[in-house]
Amino acid sequence: MLDLLKRRRTVRKFKEEKIPRDTIEKIIKAGLLAPSSKDKKPVEFVVVEDRDTMMRLRKCKAKGANGLDTAVCAIAVIADSNLSDVWVEDASIASILIQLEAEAQGLGSVWIQMRKRQSDFGESEAEVRNVLNIPEKYGVLSIVALGYKDEEKTHYNENNLNMSKVHFEKF
Ligand SMILES: Cc1cc2nc3c(=O)[nH]c(=O)nc-3n(C[C@H](O)[C@H](O)[C@H](O)COP(=O)(O)O)c2cc1C
Repeated sequence: MLDLLKRRRTVRKFKEEKIPRDTIEKIIKAGLLAPSSKDKKPVEFVVVEDRDTMMRLRKCKAKGANGLDTAVCAIAVIADSNLSDVWVEDASIASILIQLEAEAQGLGSVWIQMRKRQSDFGESEAEVRNVLNIPEKYGVLSIVALGYKDEEKTHYNENNLNMSKVHFEKF
């Protein structure tokens, strides 16, 4: 697990190669296996491969959505905010598990934040709901953009671990 965590780096440039259906399914399964508060399981996913839809999603965020320019798959991580008061935490866990399974499958990914972010026209969350037909009660936490890596990033190593952030017994 630590090796996988050191390997995973945010990737924002992807090759054109499509991701096989069973690989996408494995990535989705990782998201579905995420633990959730009180086991309410409020998190759902919208999987997008259509380029036009992807470009519409790109416009849902003014900055920091360039990962969608070349992504071949985008997974919107959403959650029923009526079902859980801590849906943000639940959707965050699902987002990172998706990213880790993507890495395990030899893919790259980027977490594109939508909650509390803006497009040129309004709130990113509302824009994504509109593009993907998502009902109002769902919060939109992130879009995880995926694809085969077209950029190299150095892996993390032990020197990147800031042990001064860890406090034993007391702060
Ligand atoms: C909560 C959260 C929100 C993020 N939002 C964005 C985003 O909107 N756009 C983007 O390109 N990257 C986004 N990232 C990726 C971070 O920029 C990236 O994880 C960070 O720079 C560390 O790099 P690493 O993932 O390679 O360790 C986000 C990451 C997290 C955890």
